[in-house]
Amino acid sequence: MKDSVIHLGLAGLGTVGSGLVKIIQENSDWITRRLGKTLKVKTIMVRDLDKPRNVHPSPDTHFTTNMDELLHDPDIDIVVELAGGIDFPRQLITRALSAGKSVVTANKALLAEHGPELFELAAQKNLGLYYEASVAGGIPIIQTLKESLAGNKIKSITGILNGTANFIMSEMSEKGEDFAAVLAKAQAKGYAEADPTLDIEGIDAAHKLVILIRLAYGLDFPMDRLTINGISQVEQFDIALAQEFGYRIKLLAQVREKSGLLHAGVYPALLRQDHILAKVDGPFNSILLDGNAVGPVMLYGQGAGDLPTGSAVLADILALSRTDCPPNNTGFLETRLPLADILAPELTVFRHYFRFTVVDRPGVMASIAGVLGEYNISIAQVVQRQYAPDAGVPIVFLTHSAQMKNAMAALDTIKEFSFVLAPPVHYRII
Ligand SMILES: NC(=O)c1ccc[n+]([C@@H]2O[C@H](COP(=O)([O-])OP(=O)(O)OC[C@H]3O[C@@H](n4cnc5c(N)ncnc54)[C@H](OP(=O)(O)O)[C@@H]3O)[C@@H](O)[C@H]2O)c1
Repeated sequence: MKDSVIHLGLAGLGTVGSGLVKIIQENSDWITRRLGKTLKVKTIMVRDLDKPRNVHPSPDTHFTTNMDELLHDPDIDIVVELAGGIDFPRQLITRALSAGKSVVTANKALLAEHGPELFELAAQKNLGLYYEASVAGGIPIIQTLKESLAGNKIKSITGILNGTANFIMSEMSEKGEDFAAVLAKAQAKGYAEADPTLDIEGIDAAHKLVILIRLAYGLDFPMDRLTINGISQVEQFDIALAQEFGYRIKLLAQVREKSGLLHAGVYPALLRQDHILAKVDGPFNSILLDGNAVGPVMLYGQGAGDLPTGSAVLADILALSRTDCPPNNTGFLETRLPLADILAPELTVFRHYFRFTVVDRPGVMASIAGVLGEYNISIAQVVQRQYAPDAGVPIVFLTHSAQMKNAMAALDTIKEFSFVLAPPVHYRII
């Protein structure tokens, strides 16, 4: 990359690829001023050569459906993977690194599932594999953890990492609408995919959390060891009641370190209304972390979209185009990061929100409180709602801190009482 032009080979000209091309076109003078070089998109690989495009790279940009034209072109300095999926980009990135080309990707699903093997290959080849856009779109969290906060031990990270889920939870809170109605609205606005599973079941946020854990702790936390609960079961009733107690329900991705053990998960949880993350509304993302030297740091911004995500991809391209320092992919020297020591989920400690739907008769509240007491769960607040014929009476308990295994055992016991009419509802309180 010693020439005055950095040649890019792009795989994917969809939302993010188009955003990247637009920024390169619009900010080319600015980029040259920073880099002393110009960026040129030499070749773009797509699935369908005949598809109409809403961006027009320079007339000499070559379009192809053949991966080899990215990999075997000696002019191409950096391969930029913006196609999505798993199998195709895994093959493309593996082959690009093997062919001696650094790679930029926005693909969190691929990095969460196959990151270790790809980072190992990049390290063996002494090449860059950069991924700023893979977590929280335009928010520069990767570089922040890898470089700016490298001197800190990170005690915890709590993030709103999925804009679709946050839009849905915000609308449910503000408009009083049910999950299904708000999901349909999110799909109409383009915030949610036709198949929203990855977003609403917490899987997309879990992919991003795995990437953040590697950067913050230098440890690999396998996806299948994460606690993952989505928002598809969240009911308007609990949102409204949480609000009365002074809380909002948000889909949070969280990792906490205690005595060398990590606990990590994605779950809807109650946040106090004055918590800084409770104010993050709509499709926005935010990450709050706690470093042992810096203290709390919060980042906020657009977690998706063509230009915000393209901005993050471009930052990686600029970083890799500066040849004066070796690539820093994971932020740690190990070729393969060690596995995290994981705190068993049942040993985690939270405050809890329980809702029981019960028959309206004397002694019910005392029976439930008795079981909570047996399991060492101390009650902070309790509220019982008006009797609604046939539907039973909702009783909500907010507890002080209690171990998850005690919370689960108490719920298992209580749900067997004959006066309990529906499965209990349970949320963590952060
Ligand atoms: N969208 C966002 O806001 C956002 C934010 C952060 C991260 N990301 C990540 O960025 C990546 C790209 O997302 P996107 O929203 O830009 O996707 P997209 O709009 O669906 O575009 C995908 C592009 O890749 C091309 N493509 C897909 N499979 C291909 C294959 N097998 N061979 C050749 N070309 C292929 C498509 O070609 P055709 O155009 O010919 O169909 C299309 O141009 C994903 O990993 C996503 O998770 C996206």
